[in-house]
Amino acid sequence: MPASDAAVLRIHPHPSDFTLVSQMTTADHDKTPLDTLSQDSFRVSARVSLRRQLAALVRKELTMKLRERTSTIVSIVTPIFILFILFMLNISLTKGITDVSPKPLATLSSNCPAGTAKTSCVSLGFTNSTNIDAVLAALVDVVAAAEPEARIVPFPSVDALQAARNADPTRFVAGVQFRDLSNLTAATTTPSIAYTIFANTTIIKTFQDVRADTADAYVRTAILNVFRAKQNLAPLRSPLVSAPAFPSNGMLFESVRGRSSSGISAIVPFYMIFMLQPLLQGVMTGLADDKLTKAKSGLIMMGTNETMYMLAAATANMLFAIATSLLVVLIVCVGGIIKYSSWVLVLVLVVEYAISLVLMGCLLSIMFSNPRQVRAMSLILMFVFLGVYGLGLALVWKQNNLAAERAMQLLSPVALARALALIMDAENSALGLTTAAWTTDPRFAAPFYMIAVDCVIYWCLAWYFDKLFPGENMGTPQPWYFPFRADFWTSAAKGLDPSTIKKNLPRGSSRFIEPFDVNGIPAADRDVLTICGVTKDFKSAEVQAGGLASKIAQRFKPQKLKRAVDDVSIDLHSNQILALLGHNGAGKTTLISMITGIVQPTRGNIYMRGTGNGSNTVLDAADPITLPVWRQSLGVCPQFDVLFGPLTVRETLRLFMGIKGATVEGRVGGAQPSSRSSLDNDYIDAVASDVELHSKLDAHVKTLSGGMKRKLSVAIALLGSPRIILLDEPTTGMDVAAQQRIWSLMRSCKKNRVVILTTHSMEEAEVLGDRIAIVSAGSLKTLGSSIFLKDQFGTGYSIGFVKKQAAAARTDSADAAILGFVRRFFADAHIDPASVSPTEVRISLLHRQSDATLGRGTSGGGAISFGSFYGALQSAVSTGELSANVESVNLELTTLEEVFMRFRDDEALLQESS
Ligand SMILES: Nc1ncnc2c1ncn2[C@@H]1O[C@H](COP(=O)(O)OP(=O)(O)O)[C@@H](O)[C@H]1O
Ligand SMILES: [Mg+2]
Repeated sequence: MPASDAAVLRIHPHPSDFTLVSQMTTADHDKTPLDTLSQDSFRVSARVSLRRQLAALVRKELTMKLRERTSTIVSIVTPIFILFILFMLNISLTKGITDVSPKPLATLSSNCPAGTAKTSCVSLGFTNSTNIDAVLAALVDVVAAAEPEARIVPFPSVDALQAARNADPTRFVAGVQFRDLSNLTAATTTPSIAYTIFANTTIIKTFQDVRADTADAYVRTAILNVFRAKQNLAPLRSPLVSAPAFPSNGMLFESVRGRSSSGISAIVPFYMIFMLQPLLQGVMTGLADDKLTKAKSGLIMMGTNETMYMLAAATANMLFAIATSLLVVLIVCVGGIIKYSSWVLVLVLVVEYAISLVLMGCLLSIMFSNPRQVRAMSLILMFVFLGVYGLGLALVWKQNNLAAERAMQLLSPVALARALALIMDAENSALGLTTAAWTTDPRFAAPFYMIAVDCVIYWCLAWYFDKLFPGENMGTPQPWYFPFRADFWTSAAKGLDPSTIKKNLPRGSSRFIEPFDVNGIPAADRDVLTICGVTKDFKSAEVQAGGLASKIAQRFKPQKLKRAVDDVSIDLHSNQILALLGHNGAGKTTLISMITGIVQPTRGNIYMRGTGNGSNTVLDAADPITLPVWRQSLGVCPQFDVLFGPLTVRETLRLFMGIKGATVEGRVGGAQPSSRSSLDNDYIDAVASDVELHSKLDAHVKTLSGGMKRKLSVAIALLGSPRIILLDEPTTGMDVAAQQRIWSLMRSCKKNRVVILTTHSMEEAEVLGDRIAIVSAGSLKTLGSSIFLKDQFGTGYSIGFVKKQAAAARTDSADAAILGFVRRFFADAHIDPASVSPTEVRISLLHRQSDATLGRGTSGGGAISFGSFYGALQSAVSTGELSANVESVNLELTTLEEVFMRFRDDEALLQESS
């Protein structure tokens, strides 16, 4: 008889009719691999490099964004659409003003009585209380350029000036009293300036005769030229038509004022904040979506550094945000919304702001992680920022208090709005934000460096809080003081001394656990992974993607705990596959997640033996400091594929090689190929052909079938030859052929590795598991080889007899005859009462647990009694005493299924009672 316990032996009346119904040879755990792995012909090492992870992740983000062209273009140009409205507004508001045809101003000297003009007439009298030499010099220049014969006369006081005018109105054209020019020399661009023009109304004939306009134009031009000189700008030309150096200027100065519409300049700061808000929203929704689809937790489970993940998302978003900024500045500057300012400075400002928004998005995504919530929140936050800006407008800016101003600019939108307000102000004076103004005026410079400071602050906070609140099932939170832990910064993570850890493994003490003799395997293979009394309670209200906000909300809700894993202890050794068998919801995935460190056990520990120099220490999965080293040893195939639709299979494998830091060092024994990249390509080819995805290497992942995706996930788990391989239901959705292929792959890859496989298929557990652990309702029911489980929990062996038509009428006597026959060989045999029917009867040979005769396997004494029993049974059925009653005989052996079902029934009872 073949050593097959799951097989059903069917004995027909004719000799030589023993047919093996099931072909599975499962008791044979010394399976030889069906084939060797192609990837085994490469020498591969894995060493996680953050820079490589970042590069791989950024490349992935960019590739995905470029492949999803439409949505990317929409997100880049959304702000541009909004800007377009501003642009149209600007055009329509500016049009009416430029249409005003400039009126020439009359000269001052032409209003003096003929003949007296050159010598005794006062064209422009002035008086001042503070030192205004610079303005006077500019004034003389401007007036002299337009009308060389005009006389500018100083007066000691306003009274003297008015007295002079009253004394002889015909010889006094206009006067100006400079009242407050005190801060003119301070390094500000728009100081308060007050002066009074005295027009001579005594000689009025037409309005133009009062030369107030002309005088005012001269004074203003002079003041502006003082500022322009400070910024090394050419002086404005004279406002009068007749200026000989600048023929036919018209009212140049007047028209300059008109062109920057004050209406639009007031809304520009607000407008730009709202216009760029989609950048913030884009980052936040992107990160939130990744949490919801479990892409983030998957990536982290597979060894991605949390910070690199966030940095990669930020970098990719920044590149696109910079593209948006370029377009915005192009339109704003070319479209004439900003005319006089240096476009380079405006670009720097907008780009800086775009970057700060992306980083702010990273920070906020830690708090808000529901995509729908994010959309509303990013808008609400912008309103809040504008409110703060409004406060500044009402209270802070006018105090001229730079410290207060800077404090408010810790919010980068406030800083941008403030900068734009200053720019539009300066634009209104035809000055704009120039390099000179930027270097001289601290108010201009402040937003530039404050936004840079904001970027740094936002990133540091995002980095810090991400470590503190990684999100439920996203990793192990660090203690708040982690930056002060010395070992956080020294990358050499130290393991624990094995003697300090508490191990209370049930080493075969219970009859449910098969004793495993570790002395039978090499010391190097022992206890590679140890799960010690691990328990996990989930709060039932918990959302997987819940962020900080929902976490806080839950604080105030009563909690009901759900125990997903209950005090599980298993020790795992190399060269073995452990099959975790359990129905849906048994807690398999939770256990795997705890091994990867993304879910923290409520109680208990998981230890891993260190590698290399640290092989005499152990690592603890709960220690966030050593977790990167821990993850380096793992290859994970999560239950849900962590794959990205727009990438091809090749790109996906390359991405995960980057994440795991897998480096192909060469071929085993083979010739060295010419280049590294061809070596990498060959390795990827080999990995793909191991899982039969070779023909799909350049297909997009979204075009793969479910089974193919699982294969790809398995291939990813094997990348870089990890020491411990965790496969969570790897073969779900695969066809039979693919399943067999993956099974043989797993058997080939268990060499020198710990393999944990979860499944709810008995067949899979039986074929692959060197040891099988049955979990039910979170607790470990039993652990041992398939034979052990059947021995312990099986219903023994039974023989089913199919009765002949004729025997159906006399059931009892037929059954008695059959039982009598069997009892000659097995004294304990009895009729299974549930099986009695007119056509069939089943006879159990043994009670469970009375495994004395049929012990482990069939190699013991039991086999001999079976042998003679078969012979007798055969002849009795075909020609002998049973031939009248029995049509055919089925010998049935306990299957793992029966064992499994028993535990499932146990749990059904448990759930009913609770
Ligand atoms: N994040 C979670 N929050 C609350 N309950 C959870 C969470 N994850 C899993 N569970 C619960 O824990 C139990 C075990 O789940 P799981 O480990 O996924 O089972 P399996 O992988 O064996 O099918 C289930 O009852 C499930 O509802
Ligand atoms: Mg699961």
